[in-house]
Amino acid sequence: PLVGSGGLVADAAARSGAVAAFNVITLEHVEAVIAGAEAVGSPVILQISENAVKYRRGQVEPLARAAAEAARLAGVDVALHLDHVKSDALLRQAGSAGFSSVMYDAAHLPYEENLAATRAAADWAHAQGLWIEAELGEVGGKDGAAPLDAHAPGARTSPEEARTFVAESGVDALAVAVGSSHAMTSRTAVLDHELLGRLRSALDVPLVLHGSSGVPDGELAAAVRGGIAKVNIGTALNIAMTGAIRQVLADRPEAVDSRKYLTAGRQAMAETVSSLIGVLGGAVVP
Ligand code: G3H
Ligand code: ZN
Repeated sequence: PLVGSGGLVADAAARSGAVAAFNVITLEHVEAVIAGAEAVGSPVILQISENAVKYRRGQVEPLARAAAEAARLAGVDVALHLDHVKSDALLRQAGSAGFSSVMYDAAHLPYEENLAATRAAADWAHAQGLWIEAELGEVGGKDGAAPLDAHAPGARTSPEEARTFVAESGVDALAVAVGSSHAMTSRTAVLDHELLGRLRSALDVPLVLHGSSGVPDGELAAAVRGGIAKVNIGTALNIAMTGAIRQVLADRPEAVDSRKYLTAGRQAMAETVSSLIGVLGGAVVP
């Protein structure tokens, strides 16, 4: 069934675990995430990013409506989340397109601008009954240095700043920069567990890990034990899908039916989903 994201994250946090949130780009991604979650009997979040919407010819509704319908038919609880939204126009479509939650991404802005934009987004989201996640990383730019991307490996969230940011913006969850980085194709990220501990103590909202594809299983489990309640995974699905498709196309150069290789791609993604959900589940101390 289709459920709310906020409830899934709250349930995960209450049992000191984490819910996996997978980025979906095609209907095959949607079907694979649901199949992978059903295989292990766990709830899951489907998330569509602003970049994925751009890929879908700027239209959020076709994929979102398909995902919502697939969620309704699923054998496990599935929530729909709108990820990494920078555009106010897209934000305003979240509720009508069927999302129960949104991640508003203004972490590239200087602190005060990030706070003001996030507070406005949170006020709007809450008025619509939407759960909202925001992000705070270290934004440089001091002394003429180039601003540091929130998810560059070196970016870090300050616990003191985060406490004020959450209190003043009113967001429901915070994405923190603790050593992961987006779009890594090797699982070599090393997380700053000491900082995660300080963030966990400083904040009373669920914490979200982005760029989790580059984080090894052991580090992911440790992050969950350290207080991460939502784990965002995108690139790992694309690595699985593309690898499987490449294999089929190499083995069967005569194949023309797209279902031949998409089936393999979808199967590989579903296995990745089951495996990663298992890692998160395994981190929970009974
Ligand atoms: O918001 C989405 C994620 O942070 C996914 O990052 O593609 O590096 O796993 P990833
Ligand atoms: Zn992200």
